[in-house]
Amino acid sequence: MKKLFIANWKSSMSAGDVTRFLKEFKNPKPKLAEVALASSFLHLSQLKKVDIKVAQDVSVHPVGAFTGDIAADQLSEAGVSMCLVGHSERRIYHAETEDDIFAKIERLLAARIYPVLCVGENAEEREQNKTAAVLRRQLSVLKDVSMPELVIIAYEPVWAISTFQTGKKKNTATNEQIVEAHQLIRKILISMIGEDGECAEILYGGSVTPENSAAIINLDDVDGVLVGGASTDAKKFMKIINNLK
Ligand code: PGA
Repeated sequence: MKKLFIANWKSSMSAGDVTRFLKEFKNPKPKLAEVALASSFLHLSQLKKVDIKVAQDVSVHPVGAFTGDIAADQLSEAGVSMCLVGHSERRIYHAETEDDIFAKIERLLAARIYPVLCVGENAEEREQNKTAAVLRRQLSVLKDVSMPELVIIAYEPVWAISTFQTGKKKNTATNEQIVEAHQLIRKILISMIGEDGECAEILYGGSVTPENSAAIINLDDVDGVLVGGASTDAKKFMKIINNLK
Protein backbone atom coordinates (compact mmCIF):
# COMPACT_ATOMS: atom_id res chain seq x y z
CA MET A 1 0.00 0.00 0.00
CA LYS A 2 1.18 3.53 -0.78
CA LYS A 3 2.28 5.79 2.04
CA LEU A 4 1.17 9.40 2.13
CA PHE A 5 3.52 12.31 2.88
CA ILE A 6 1.72 15.58 3.57
CA ALA A 7 3.69 18.81 3.96
CA ASN A 8 1.87 21.17 6.32
CA TRP A 9 3.31 24.59 5.61
CA LYS A 10 0.97 26.31 8.09
CA SER A 11 1.33 30.10 7.65
CA SER A 12 5.10 29.83 7.30
CA MET A 13 5.73 30.36 3.58
CA SER A 14 5.76 33.47 1.38
CA ALA A 15 4.93 33.24 -2.34
CA GLY A 16 8.68 33.36 -3.03
CA ASP A 17 9.33 30.51 -0.59
CA VAL A 18 6.74 28.39 -2.40
CA THR A 19 8.33 29.12 -5.79
CA ARG A 20 11.78 28.19 -4.43
CA PHE A 21 10.44 25.00 -2.82
CA LEU A 22 8.79 23.87 -6.07
CA LYS A 23 11.99 24.52 -8.02
CA GLU A 24 14.08 22.45 -5.62
CA PHE A 25 11.64 19.63 -5.00
CA LYS A 26 12.23 16.59 -7.22
CA ASN A 27 9.85 13.68 -7.44
CA PRO A 28 10.74 11.19 -4.73
CA LYS A 29 12.39 7.89 -5.55
CA PRO A 30 10.14 5.46 -3.66
CA LYS A 31 7.31 4.33 -5.96
CA LEU A 32 5.05 3.80 -3.00
CA ALA A 33 5.29 7.40 -1.81
CA GLU A 34 2.39 9.72 -2.45
CA VAL A 35 3.21 13.41 -1.95
CA ALA A 36 0.71 16.08 -0.93
CA LEU A 37 1.33 19.75 -0.18
CA ALA A 38 -0.79 21.81 2.21
CA SER A 39 -0.16 25.46 1.41
CA SER A 40 -2.02 28.50 2.67
CA PHE A 41 -5.15 29.35 0.67
CA LEU A 42 -3.23 32.18 -0.99
CA HIS A 43 -0.63 29.90 -2.51
CA LEU A 44 -2.81 27.01 -3.71
CA SER A 45 -2.77 28.44 -7.23
CA GLN A 46 1.03 28.08 -7.28
CA LEU A 47 0.69 24.31 -6.92
CA LYS A 48 -0.47 23.76 -10.51
CA LYS A 49 1.77 20.78 -11.13
CA VAL A 50 1.23 19.17 -7.73
CA ASP A 51 -1.04 16.11 -7.89
CA ILE A 52 -2.43 16.32 -4.37
CA LYS A 53 -3.22 19.86 -3.28
CA VAL A 54 -4.22 20.12 0.37
CA ALA A 55 -5.99 22.95 2.17
CA GLN A 56 -5.29 23.57 5.85
CA ASP A 57 -8.86 24.39 6.82
CA VAL A 58 -12.36 24.86 5.46
CA SER A 59 -15.44 26.84 6.45
CA VAL A 60 -18.28 25.20 8.36
CA HIS A 61 -20.59 27.14 6.03
CA PRO A 62 -21.53 26.62 2.39
CA VAL A 63 -20.76 29.18 -0.33
CA GLY A 64 -22.51 32.42 0.62
CA ALA A 65 -22.35 35.52 2.79
CA PHE A 66 -19.62 34.41 5.21
CA THR A 67 -16.94 37.08 5.07
CA GLY A 68 -13.44 35.73 5.30
CA ASP A 69 -14.48 32.07 4.99
CA ILE A 70 -13.43 29.65 2.25
CA ALA A 71 -16.11 27.09 1.43
CA ALA A 72 -15.49 23.46 0.48
CA ASP A 73 -16.91 24.00 -3.02
CA GLN A 74 -14.44 26.85 -3.55
CA LEU A 75 -11.59 24.56 -2.49
CA SER A 76 -12.81 21.93 -4.90
CA GLU A 77 -12.88 24.51 -7.70
CA ALA A 78 -9.25 25.38 -6.83
CA GLY A 79 -8.27 21.74 -7.40
CA VAL A 80 -7.94 20.80 -3.73
CA SER A 81 -8.35 17.07 -3.12
CA MET A 82 -7.59 16.84 0.62
CA CYS A 83 -8.11 19.17 3.56
CA LEU A 84 -6.85 19.13 7.14
CA VAL A 85 -9.55 19.29 9.79
CA GLY A 86 -9.24 19.74 13.54
CA HIS A 87 -5.51 20.44 13.58
CA SER A 88 -4.47 21.14 17.18
CA GLU A 89 -3.57 24.72 16.23
CA ARG A 90 -7.16 25.24 15.02
CA ARG A 91 -8.57 23.59 18.14
CA ILE A 92 -6.34 25.72 20.42
CA TYR A 93 -6.22 29.12 18.67
CA HIS A 94 -9.72 29.07 17.19
CA ALA A 95 -11.53 27.05 19.86
CA GLU A 96 -12.81 24.60 17.27
CA THR A 97 -15.33 22.20 18.72
CA GLU A 98 -16.26 18.67 17.75
CA ASP A 99 -19.45 20.11 16.19
CA ASP A 100 -17.40 22.46 13.98
CA ILE A 101 -15.16 19.60 12.97
CA PHE A 102 -18.13 17.40 12.12
CA ALA A 103 -19.63 20.18 9.98
CA LYS A 104 -16.33 20.70 8.15
CA ILE A 105 -15.96 17.00 7.41
CA GLU A 106 -19.48 16.86 5.96
CA ARG A 107 -18.88 19.94 3.80
CA LEU A 108 -15.67 18.42 2.45
CA LEU A 109 -17.22 15.04 1.70
CA ALA A 110 -20.09 16.73 -0.14
CA ALA A 111 -17.46 18.58 -2.23
CA ARG A 112 -15.58 15.31 -2.90
CA ILE A 113 -12.53 16.33 -0.88
CA TYR A 114 -10.84 13.86 1.48
CA PRO A 115 -10.82 15.18 5.06
CA VAL A 116 -7.65 14.56 7.08
CA LEU A 117 -8.87 14.52 10.66
CA CYS A 118 -6.12 15.45 13.13
CA VAL A 119 -6.39 13.99 16.61
CA GLY A 120 -4.05 13.77 19.58
CA GLU A 121 -3.70 14.39 23.28
CA ASN A 122 -1.70 17.16 24.97
CA ALA A 123 1.08 16.59 27.52
CA GLU A 124 -1.16 16.93 30.53
CA GLU A 125 -3.72 14.50 29.15
CA ARG A 126 -0.99 11.94 28.44
CA GLU A 127 0.45 12.33 31.96
CA GLN A 128 -3.01 11.78 33.41
CA ASN A 129 -3.53 8.64 31.30
CA LYS A 130 -6.33 10.29 29.36
CA THR A 131 -4.97 9.58 25.87
CA ALA A 132 -7.56 6.90 25.06
CA ALA A 133 -10.44 9.04 26.31
CA VAL A 134 -9.26 12.04 24.27
CA LEU A 135 -8.86 10.00 21.10
CA ARG A 136 -12.28 8.42 21.62
CA ARG A 137 -13.87 11.85 22.00
CA GLN A 138 -12.09 13.36 19.00
CA LEU A 139 -12.87 10.36 16.79
CA SER A 140 -16.50 10.21 17.92
CA VAL A 141 -17.42 12.79 15.24
CA LEU A 142 -17.05 9.96 12.71
CA LYS A 143 -20.03 8.08 14.14
CA ASP A 144 -22.46 10.40 12.36
CA VAL A 145 -20.34 11.24 9.32
CA SER A 146 -21.95 10.20 6.03
CA MET A 147 -18.88 8.51 4.48
CA PRO A 148 -16.44 7.77 7.33
CA GLU A 149 -14.47 5.39 5.11
CA LEU A 150 -13.17 8.40 3.16
CA VAL A 151 -11.72 10.17 6.19
CA ILE A 152 -7.95 9.96 6.69
CA ILE A 153 -6.76 10.14 10.31
CA ALA A 154 -3.60 11.92 11.44
CA TYR A 155 -2.40 11.12 14.96
CA GLU A 156 -0.57 14.22 16.13
CA PRO A 157 0.22 14.20 19.85
CA VAL A 158 0.24 17.90 20.75
CA TRP A 159 3.27 17.46 23.01
CA ALA A 160 5.34 16.21 20.06
CA ILE A 161 4.51 19.01 17.59
CA SER A 162 7.68 21.04 17.11
CA THR A 163 6.09 24.49 17.07
CA PHE A 164 4.50 24.09 20.50
CA GLN A 165 7.88 23.40 22.06
CA THR A 166 9.80 26.36 23.34
CA GLY A 167 12.45 24.63 25.45
CA LYS A 168 15.75 23.34 24.11
CA LYS A 169 14.85 19.69 24.57
CA LYS A 170 12.36 18.62 21.91
CA ASN A 171 9.86 15.92 22.77
CA THR A 172 9.39 13.32 20.10
CA ALA A 173 7.14 10.29 20.29
CA THR A 174 8.95 6.97 20.44
CA ASN A 175 8.11 4.26 17.92
CA GLU A 176 6.42 2.31 20.73
CA GLN A 177 4.21 5.30 21.57
CA ILE A 178 3.31 5.80 17.90
CA VAL A 179 2.46 2.14 17.33
CA GLU A 180 0.47 1.95 20.55
CA ALA A 181 -1.58 5.05 19.65
CA HIS A 182 -2.15 3.94 16.05
CA GLN A 183 -3.38 0.53 17.19
CA LEU A 184 -5.65 2.18 19.71
CA ILE A 185 -7.05 4.50 17.01
CA ARG A 186 -7.67 1.50 14.74
CA LYS A 187 -9.55 -0.26 17.55
CA ILE A 188 -11.66 2.83 18.28
CA LEU A 189 -12.42 3.26 14.57
CA ILE A 190 -13.55 -0.34 14.23
CA SER A 191 -15.78 0.02 17.28
CA MET A 192 -17.29 3.22 15.85
CA ILE A 193 -17.58 2.63 12.12
CA GLY A 194 -17.18 -1.14 11.82
CA GLU A 195 -15.26 -2.79 8.98
CA ASP A 196 -14.40 0.56 7.36
CA GLY A 197 -12.14 1.22 10.32
CA GLU A 198 -9.95 -1.72 9.35
CA CYS A 199 -8.66 -0.04 6.21
CA ALA A 200 -8.66 3.59 7.35
CA GLU A 201 -5.37 5.37 6.66
CA ILE A 202 -3.65 6.52 9.86
CA LEU A 203 -0.83 9.05 9.50
CA TYR A 204 1.59 10.22 12.18
CA GLY A 205 2.61 13.84 12.76
CA GLY A 206 4.85 15.51 15.32
CA SER A 207 8.47 16.56 14.79
CA VAL A 208 9.10 14.22 11.86
CA THR A 209 12.56 15.01 10.46
CA PRO A 210 15.02 13.49 7.95
CA GLU A 211 16.81 12.01 10.98
CA ASN A 212 13.86 10.10 12.46
CA SER A 213 11.62 9.48 9.44
CA ALA A 214 13.18 6.15 8.42
CA ALA A 215 12.18 4.63 11.74
CA ILE A 216 8.66 6.09 11.64
CA ILE A 217 7.49 5.75 8.06
CA ASN A 218 8.55 2.13 7.70
CA LEU A 219 6.38 1.02 10.63
CA ASP A 220 3.52 -1.24 9.49
CA ASP A 221 1.03 0.71 11.58
CA VAL A 222 1.96 4.04 10.00
CA ASP A 223 0.33 4.81 6.63
CA GLY A 224 2.13 8.09 6.14
CA VAL A 225 3.22 11.28 7.86
CA LEU A 226 2.06 14.86 8.28
CA VAL A 227 5.16 17.04 8.45
CA GLY A 228 5.22 20.64 9.65
CA GLY A 229 8.53 22.43 10.28
CA ALA A 230 10.76 20.11 8.25
CA SER A 231 8.45 20.24 5.23
CA THR A 232 9.14 23.89 4.47
CA ASP A 233 12.63 22.91 3.30
CA ALA A 234 12.42 20.98 -0.01
CA LYS A 235 15.66 19.07 0.63
CA LYS A 236 14.58 17.98 4.10
CA PHE A 237 11.13 16.97 2.89
CA MET A 238 12.65 14.93 0.04
CA LYS A 239 14.97 13.18 2.50
CA ILE A 240 12.01 12.31 4.72
CA ILE A 241 10.20 10.75 1.75
CA ASN A 242 13.24 9.01 0.33
CA ASN A 243 13.71 7.16 3.62
CA LEU A 244 10.72 5.01 2.68
CA LYS A 245 11.96 1.51 1.86
P1 PGA B 1 5.86 19.54 13.13
O1 PGA B 1 4.32 19.89 12.83
O2 PGA B 1 6.28 18.51 12.11
O3 PGA B 1 6.56 20.83 12.96
O4 PGA B 1 5.93 19.00 14.50
C1 PGA B 1 3.39 18.90 12.50
C2 PGA B 1 2.02 19.49 12.39
O5 PGA B 1 1.70 20.40 13.18
O6 PGA B 1 1.23 19.11 11.51
